[in-house]
Amino acid sequence: MEMEKPIYLLLFLLALLVHFLINKLLCWRSSPQLPPGPFAWPIIGNIFQLGRKPHVSLTNLALTYGELMMLSFGGHHVAVASSPEAAMQILRTHDRMLSGRYVPAVATKLAHESVFPSIALSEACDDAWRSLRSISISELFSAKAIESQANLREKKMMEMVDYLGRKEGEVVNLEKILFATTVNSISNIMVTRDLVKLDSDGGNERLQQLIRTIIEIVSSRNLADLAPMLQGLDVWCKRKARNILVEIKSLWNDIITERRERKDGEANTRDFLDALIQNGCSDDQICMWLMEFILAGTDNVWNTINWSLAHLLKHQEAMSKLCDELSQTTDGNVLRESHLPQMAYLDACIKETIRLRPPGPFLVPYRAVQACKVMNYTIPKDSILLVNFWAIGRDPTIWKDPLTYKPERFLETKLDFKGANFIYIPFGEGRRLCPGLNFVVTQVQLLVASLVYHFDWSLPHGMDLADLDLDEKFGLSMMKEKPLLLIPSRRKRSTG
Ligand code: HEM
Repeated sequence: MEMEKPIYLLLFLLALLVHFLINKLLCWRSSPQLPPGPFAWPIIGNIFQLGRKPHVSLTNLALTYGELMMLSFGGHHVAVASSPEAAMQILRTHDRMLSGRYVPAVATKLAHESVFPSIALSEACDDAWRSLRSISISELFSAKAIESQANLREKKMMEMVDYLGRKEGEVVNLEKILFATTVNSISNIMVTRDLVKLDSDGGNERLQQLIRTIIEIVSSRNLADLAPMLQGLDVWCKRKARNILVEIKSLWNDIITERRERKDGEANTRDFLDALIQNGCSDDQICMWLMEFILAGTDNVWNTINWSLAHLLKHQEAMSKLCDELSQTTDGNVLRESHLPQMAYLDACIKETIRLRPPGPFLVPYRAVQACKVMNYTIPKDSILLVNFWAIGRDPTIWKDPLTYKPERFLETKLDFKGANFIYIPFGEGRRLCPGLNFVVTQVQLLVASLVYHFDWSLPHGMDLADLDLDEKFGLSMMKEKPLLLIPSRRKRSTG
């Protein structure tokens, strides 16, 4: 009799599980007003349909289920928009209800550990979010602020050019050099100092590792995201959040303390850190905020420059058109930021690169703050919304020969980065539009122009440039699968 008890218990638990599964299945099927989508298993949902390249998998699924489809991951509804019309419905027509942010569990934990001011991870477009955005735009990204930073960016660009000049004839890993240059360009406009060394062989790993860790854990699925009912048990997630916080504080604390102790009149420039201190921000708030801009503005930016050069090297016809444009515009003088507005072909090359290699294939996930009807379907409250810009950028009904690298298409159409009719939205649109957009465009154009203007590039082991591989690897920022290893040699007409 005693032996039978565990069997009854097991049967009881099994019955509960079957009941739960059947309920889930019935619920799923009896929601006809949800957008169509593939069958989702209870709890795990469609996780196994994502594969190693979710942007490709979701683009293929959209061919079957349409421009607005619904999937499920870890108990969350996930709506995916794969056409300009569906993107417009989310980003413009219903933006008041759909422009919340999905915040991963680990970031929520981070918020509980600190006062966590974040623009990108503000769950709603509330007053705190509005004031963070407006300070950052006025201090860092307004037209006036961007213009006043020109000398700093040019200085960092010349340091990169000098460094590459010293490496003439050697194989360099362009990613590492671009990483250091983009980090220092941003850190200089924020705190007027370099965070990493350009010539450090391995010395930049601490920051690079910290950035990677934060990005990895914020984007990876942890227990609490997969099964929200298990959040209480997710000690691991909490511990991770705490460890990151310690690292972030140790990166910025000395800089902030030094600045607070500086006497009036000791500095001749005022930077973003001064503005935050004057606004009465606490050290913790400042740490998190500076980190947010380093996170948002490093990998995305250097990846875009890396991809731009890779495409130009592979397409020598485009490269020689760009060289001609650079020679005509600079007329043998030092390349300056003021030359950039005159270079339409450079602008077109970068737009074409971003169309094919958007750093964020799904933009940044949104959240429905209220239930909402979109294209006659119901999007339940708290659904996650993805806009598959990767799919829109390669849609053959929008772009002629979509897989071909052809910068000229942007000369003909004059599309800007703000979306036009939602066919080109790599920086999002509407109230959540990337605040760093003007900074990014200037920074990317300047660095791509300088790499092309000052150097000829070849591949190691005498490899033909036409054989350069352009495979991509999915991550929070979409990277080249293999690092870009190149040999620089100074162009004869270079003035640097
Ligand atoms: C190639 C570089 C970049 C790309 C492609 C990019 C793209 C994006 C996208 C798609 C979004 C989401 C927009 C939306 O939700 O509608 C975004 C948001 C954001 N970006 Fe960028 N970005 C880049 C660089 C930067 C830089 C350099 C910074 C700052 C230093 C920055 C700061 C932000 C912030 C703070 C947000 C959150 C905005 C909000 O939620 O209100 N980004 N970015």
